[in-house]
Amino acid sequence: MVSAAVDEILSGLWARPDNLIPALQEIQTQFHFLPEATLRAVSRRFQVPLAEVYHVATFYNCFSLAPRGHHQIHVCTGTACHVRGGQRILDRVLKELNLTSSGTTADYAFNVQPVRCLGCCALGPIMRVDQRIYGHLKQSRIPRILERYRSLAEVAA
Ligand code: FES
Repeated sequence: MVSAAVDEILSGLWARPDNLIPALQEIQTQFHFLPEATLRAVSRRFQVPLAEVYHVATFYNCFSLAPRGHHQIHVCTGTACHVRGGQRILDRVLKELNLTSSGTTADYAFNVQPVRCLGCCALGPIMRVDQRIYGHLKQSRIPRILERYRSLAEVAA
């Protein structure tokens, strides 16, 4: 059964196949992943075969079929950031969150992923948390940044 929140998202969009991606984006934003029932609902609403909905949902890495953390952390490991310590930033984030590799924390507060370039290389090393960019980042700032987001996740829970 699809939740009322998904019904509301889908009813707010014209039932046309070109609204498939906007619908998935909105569901991803709200649920932090795409539950199977929502993919079926999207398929019905936009009259797009379920296989095509899955194809789109698995093609773009902004979508996830498994639950992701409340806050999305992307640490740049592209060349410009790498030479300025991007890997050490990633290692410190993982250590602070008790993760041995990229993924979601046990409490679903955070999901950590390395990325190849965030498009603002001059600010490296860079970490993006949700929509906010932290540039010229030093390892010593990471615990405080994460603590702020952890507090936000607890308030939202
Ligand atoms: S290499 Fe890090 S933002 Fe481009």
